Amino acid sequence: MRVNTDVRGKRVLLLGACGVLGRAHARALVEHEAQLIVADRPGSTVLDDAKALGIPGIEVDIAQEFAIINGIARAAELFGGLDGAIFNAAVTSEGLVAGGGNAFPAFEDYPLALWQKAIDINLTGAFLFAREVGKVLKDAKRGSLINIASIYGVVGPDHSIYDGQLLRSFPAYSASKAGIIGLTRWLATWWAKDGIRVNCVSPGGVYNGHDERFTTAYGNRTPMGRMAKREEITGILIYLLSDSSSYCTGQNLIIDGGFTSW
Ligand SMILES: NC(=O)c1ccc[n+]([C@@H]2O[C@H](COP(=O)([O-])OP(=O)(O)OC[C@H]3O[C@@H](n4cnc5c(N)ncnc54)[C@H](O)[C@@H]3O)[C@@H](O)[C@H]2O)c1
Repeated sequence: MRVNTDVRGKRVLLLGACGVLGRAHARALVEHEAQLIVADRPGSTVLDDAKALGIPGIEVDIAQEFAIINGIARAAELFGGLDGAIFNAAVTSEGLVAGGGNAFPAFEDYPLALWQKAIDINLTGAFLFAREVGKVLKDAKRGSLINIASIYGVVGPDHSIYDGQLLRSFPAYSASKAGIIGLTRWLATWWAKDGIRVNCVSPGGVYNGHDERFTTAYGNRTPMGRMAKREEITGILIYLLSDSSSYCTGQNLIIDGGFTSW
């Protein structure tokens, strides 16, 4: 039997399509001829990015319940249903650095508002996304929901690799990513009999112009000795969207060059 990794014609919604990984995923899914719709927050580049790829794009703020309800209904209406959906949006360290200000206060002084914002987007957002996508997939009695977590939902950060960096890890990130892994397992068993598979992908650190001090410190902490390239995360999405993963549900697939194996 030939393994079917074909995603041609699969109707897929990618939320969080304009960041470091989202752009690479969108490009690859279009190249693999999935029927893709991209979504990202209002004010992002999502509409321009979609136009450049020749696919539909929508603005959705994952922190707003009504926006999620409307956005997913629009996506499903546009394609007459969905076969897969990827929750890739997040408040990330890189996003916080880009936003400026003191994004990484010491934990002892950590403001509730910063904690709450990341939990609202990263974890409550995943809940809302799953709830609305689930309605569409349940009607069709098939589909693949993919949540993007992180190695930091699995292991604690080695804070020393961030010494001297603008970029740091932050507590709500780890908590929300661990929460997404738990939510994924809960949903996988909830929907298993409805033909909906739910899995999580936990990438390790992806290279995005980090300085040499960081890449060396990160590499020394990683069995494969380096950060990931963006394209190295996309393959697992193709697998999870395709029929070759038909018996895979409730898993957290860790793509990290061995980071969590040490
Ligand atoms: N890049 C990495 O090294 C890495 C490592 C592990 C896990 N991840 C995870 O992979 C995913 C993608 O990461 P990335 O590096 O591309 O991050 P990124 O910060 O570059 O992109 C995040 C995306 O989420 C969107 N977003 C943020 N708030 C939103 C909101 N309220 N509504 C809708 N969209 C919103 C942003 O606009 C952006 O397009 C994230 O879940 C991240 O936690 C990334």
